[in-house]
Amino acid sequence: MKIIKTTDYYHMSRMAANILSAQVIIKPDCVLGLATGSTPIGTYEQLIRWYEKGDLDFSQVRTINLDEYKGLSPENDQSYRYFMNEHLFRHININLDHTHVPNGLESDPVKACEDYNRIIRENGGVDLQLLGLGLNGHIGFNEPGAAFEKETHCVDLTQSTIDANSRFFDHMDLVPKQAYTVGIKTIMQAKKIVVIASGENKADIIAKAFWGPITPSVPASVLQLHNDVVLVGDEAALSKIPE
Ligand code: GLP
Repeated sequence: MKIIKTTDYYHMSRMAANILSAQVIIKPDCVLGLATGSTPIGTYEQLIRWYEKGDLDFSQVRTINLDEYKGLSPENDQSYRYFMNEHLFRHININLDHTHVPNGLESDPVKACEDYNRIIRENGGVDLQLLGLGLNGHIGFNEPGAAFEKETHCVDLTQSTIDANSRFFDHMDLVPKQAYTVGIKTIMQAKKIVVIASGENKADIIAKAFWGPITPSVPASVLQLHNDVVLVGDEAALSKIPE
């Protein structure tokens, strides 16, 4: 694993955006695996800036997002489809038909997951996967205990994730309790993985995930087995890793 330590969130975002843009330049029709949450917002802002300057072309890029809340429509401002449109897609020249997020409105979990697995297969898999980390070590919405061999599936969110996500909703009752997420197997099949982390509250889980035992109780620990992972973190997030 390669580790890139930056002074702060802004520089972490620039470094991550650098890696993503290199991927787009090397392979203009690449498949980017994208993430939501607060951590990638700065990375997306940087990509938009470079696009506006004329340095990046997304016209052939395809994207596959990690997850979506079950029951939320694309128009719901808390859905991950809405998030991606607002924070990235509507600012760049990507073809929206080439962007994929699980269908939160599909009430049949088997169909929703099969459809998404098919989309991933038809696109030939992910070239570069951008990943944030949940406080409990979840990746996508693969919560502690998730089997490493799963593809897209429907998950019951843990209370700690529901609590962490509640900050974005007006009322606790509105926070979805279930989500569709690509599985750990899918994530591990990405050719390259870039993990981003910022802030002191991620320091413990970063140390545990990358220097602790590989176990389903810390889903991100499986990334130790991937042969092309870059961890980009700011000083605070990397403050507890061994020298
Ligand atoms: C959600 C997303 C994850 C993300 C996590 C961390 O749970 N499903 O993909 O990594 O939030 O969010 P943040 O970046 O806001 O800490």
